[in-house]
Amino acid sequence: MTDIHDNPLDDPNADPFQVAALAAADIARLSGVEKHDIALTLGSGWGKAADLLGETIATIPATEVTGFSKPALEGHVGTLRSIRTPGGTHVLVIGARTHYYEDHGVRRVVHSVRTAAAAGAKIMVLTNGAGGIRETWKPGQPVLISDHINLTADSPLEGANFVDLTDLYSARLRDIARTVDPSLDEGVYTQFRGPHYETPAEVQMAKIIGGNIVGMSTALEAIAAREAGMEVLGFSLITNLAAGIQKTPLSHTEVIEAGREAEPVISALLARVVEAL
Ligand code: HPA
Repeated sequence: MTDIHDNPLDDPNADPFQVAALAAADIARLSGVEKHDIALTLGSGWGKAADLLGETIATIPATEVTGFSKPALEGHVGTLRSIRTPGGTHVLVIGARTHYYEDHGVRRVVHSVRTAAAAGAKIMVLTNGAGGIRETWKPGQPVLISDHINLTADSPLEGANFVDLTDLYSARLRDIARTVDPSLDEGVYTQFRGPHYETPAEVQMAKIIGGNIVGMSTALEAIAAREAGMEVLGFSLITNLAAGIQKTPLSHTEVIEAGREAEPVISALLARVVEAL
């Protein structure tokens, strides 16, 4: 058991993979499920997917699991859920994301991903709410992540660990997602540090360097997932058009509201995609 004031990941001498192994053991003990097949991180707007996936075997407060932080924001649910799909797949649903902007260090940001890998997951599904750069996109629209640009100037990898990120967002998994919904568009996710939204000039920069989506999560988690040998599938819910593309100011309330409105539809989509994986 741990809380924000007593986290083994804050000890620079701790081995983050060992902490993840302890967390996976906590999950196995508290859920009674030895091994999970797929892990799913639910960002804003995606929360209802958990209810649609299948039977909930266990709901575990994140604070009961080694190395997890308390959620920084209301609307980011601090639980882990073990779900069995009708097909018998065990899905670990992570509703407790630590964002880079919370300033607890990148080890805490990727702890859930490393825990998922230690719990046996071979596929990591990462979802988020984000801003859209493509003007044809509408708030409430889900898009697949095809690649990313990491503008945090940080990495979850420690030491000289040269991990290949070609096909980081698995083409195979994106194809499966498109068999469920052929209308799914895709784009390059650009992770900014946040927590402020981007300036219009930064959004233009992201566009010029090849970004289509702007957000504050996912890229660092995807890198850690690849390091751990998992296949990655990423989805963004476009909650708003990015600053300057949309002519009105951005607000967190508007972002949460867009997520809430889109939630039933995109959650159903996500549940169907996970069943198809
Ligand atoms: N920028 C960054 N993060 C976001 C946005 C955005 O426009 N919308 C939702 N999360």
